[in-house]
Amino acid sequence: MQNVKIIDHPLVQHKISLMRDINTGSKEFRELASETATLMCYEATRDLPLKTVEIQTPISIAKSRVISGKKLAFVPVLRAGLAMTDGLIKLLPAAKVGHVGIFRDPDTSKAVEYYCKLPCDIAEREVIITDIMLATGGTAVKTIDMLLEAGVKEIKLMCIIASPEGIDTVNKAHPDVEIYCGSVDDGLNEKNYIVPGLGDAGDRIFGTK
Ligand code: URA
Repeated sequence: MQNVKIIDHPLVQHKISLMRDINTGSKEFRELASETATLMCYEATRDLPLKTVEIQTPISIAKSRVISGKKLAFVPVLRAGLAMTDGLIKLLPAAKVGHVGIFRDPDTSKAVEYYCKLPCDIAEREVIITDIMLATGGTAVKTIDMLLEAGVKEIKLMCIIASPEGIDTVNKAHPDVEIYCGSVDDGLNEKNYIVPGLGDAGDRIFGTK
């Protein structure tokens, strides 16, 4: 069985449809990416442990639950994953943020690291990797490898649109990593773009095309 959770909430689906639209400009696209990440975070953090504390309300003492001590980090993959960070930090302001940059070597087609800056206590944190598109899966697998090398034990991958190929690749290489996505599209084209997808997420966020 595949380790993937599709977040089919109507708000997520609606925002993804707006992101796909060729007429959606960069400002709106960025806002939608951030908002979609906020909504997806709700599901990706569903298993956070809680503890019961006593709180004085204006009426009486309430036994009420708060998140118990689990430390989180978000690791956006440059460039597109950046647009999701704001939406996540809004919900979990104590989380730290690392950054990973990876390019595909045109000769070998291998994913190559060009940037990695992680919180110094990353090994003690559960990490949620963010990237808008999970296409071939090469970048995601490389990012997970880098985090495992840094000592991280719990990793989730959050992407807005995934291809079946990308999910397969990540599941085969790292079966323990749960993938959260908003849509599994038809597949990849000859240039490894997701079909129908939303185009180049980085270009759409930063207006570079
Ligand atoms: N990266 C993108 O930005 N879009 C795709 O369709 C695939 C990879």
